[in-house]
Amino acid sequence: MVSTQLQKAREFEAQYGPHIPAAERPAFHATPTIGWMNDPNGFSFYQGKCHLFYQYHPYSNEWGPMHWGHLTTEDFIHWERLPAALAPDQPFDAAGCFSGGAVELPDGRQLLMYTGVQRERDEEGFLRDIQTQCVAIGDGLNYEKYALNPVLTKNDLPEGGSAIDFRDPKVWQAADGTYYAVIGNRTPDDSGAILLYQSRDALKWDYVRTLDACHNQYGKMWECPDFFPLDGGQILLTSPQDMYPIGLEFHAGNNALCLIGDCDPKSMEFHRQTVQAVDYGLDFYAPQTLLTPDGRRVMIAWMQNWATAGAKPAHCRWFGQMTLPRELFLRNGRLCQRPVRELEACRGQRVLHRDIPVSGEVNLPGIQGRVVDMTVTVRPTGGEMYRWFRIHVAKDGAHDTIIRYKPSESTLKIDRTRSGLPHDIVHTRSFLVRPQNGEVKLRIILDRFSVEVFVNDGEQAASSVIYTRQEADAITFEADGQVLVDVEKYDLMV
Ligand code: FRU
Repeated sequence: MVSTQLQKAREFEAQYGPHIPAAERPAFHATPTIGWMNDPNGFSFYQGKCHLFYQYHPYSNEWGPMHWGHLTTEDFIHWERLPAALAPDQPFDAAGCFSGGAVELPDGRQLLMYTGVQRERDEEGFLRDIQTQCVAIGDGLNYEKYALNPVLTKNDLPEGGSAIDFRDPKVWQAADGTYYAVIGNRTPDDSGAILLYQSRDALKWDYVRTLDACHNQYGKMWECPDFFPLDGGQILLTSPQDMYPIGLEFHAGNNALCLIGDCDPKSMEFHRQTVQAVDYGLDFYAPQTLLTPDGRRVMIAWMQNWATAGAKPAHCRWFGQMTLPRELFLRNGRLCQRPVRELEACRGQRVLHRDIPVSGEVNLPGIQGRVVDMTVTVRPTGGEMYRWFRIHVAKDGAHDTIIRYKPSESTLKIDRTRSGLPHDIVHTRSFLVRPQNGEVKLRIILDRFSVEVFVNDGEQAASSVIYTRQEADAITFEADGQVLVDVEKYDLMV
């Protein structure tokens, strides 16, 4: 049965969503039908199609009572809009249907597992949110909330676990049929932990263990976990709140953390070995992954930063977009990522320049555009070392977004100070890269309102949104000193 709240959201998005012209959205990045989007939810395959749900407030471009929006795709590039899947319409989720996951059941139905938020007053009369885990079952379009919700409450927490910060279940089914869910929680030392639960039927859940805990080392609450094997290792992803910066690896505030280790398949114990950032740009949070039928681990994330989410174009009717889905792999013990290979099918005409000496600022024939897949390789000439090399994109007389490499520091810097946002927010981020034989290779994906940079064949990625007017479509190359560059550029025809 479709509740009044869900019916209202569906009617609203059906009436007003189509008013937003396609040209005012990214060409191939997922956006909300209308209003606000944050975390990806339930990113999974169901009956042969990829489903992507998202944290959704259709009625304004601000965060509000959370619904689940719904998209599907067959190629990670073209997205089909489906009616909203969940609305906060029950006592156990009246204050919001927060993030969660999805899994296909043996009987062919799809199960959504999400955090139900209820508001109550504490002993001092202050409002607080209590979080429990809930499920809804459906056919890929309509979902019925389970009569015995919530399926996990404070009674299922380990000793000292917080019922206020207990959220974001990511669910999957193991080869032996067991369902697992990882869920973020806050421990008595006031920092994050990731809890593991298991179930035979995805309805009745039991606590297994704490997979890993923050102990105030990497931020506070750990949100939006994901847990999966990759190339012989085991990955635990989570998004910490309130971090202090660590070198150039982690910036202050919300980050996305990748813990790499191994997992004993019997006890499900996780042993962390290394820690790295997932993305080095300005806008990346709450990543979630799926396994494709052909065995690829694909990740998508909210391409936004909570701290700058208030800075948006006036009167925009959609806000928030997802990153390009990325294929994950381990190389030399590091988590690496490449744009999904399906993007290559959208490549139009190729423009290639090889061994071009750059000194000062140059524009190369055929190189411009805002919906572009471009790879730039920069190397020293063999003569005097250059001081910096810049790629300017989304450029006109008043605007540009700069990707700058400085060989003396091995740093790459993204600078979107002049990218259309008249707000005094964080506009630059620098991070360490690893040149190979003095060369740095940058694959840059532009899609109208974003720049995603993939460094050295996926060793690192950096994502940032931009709001520069679309007429600003020049791309130039600039060096202090002299460099040699190769540029391979495709327009993307989506
Ligand atoms: C992360 C998050 C989640 C929560 C959701 C609410 O961005 O705070 O922890 O479920 O957003 O919209």
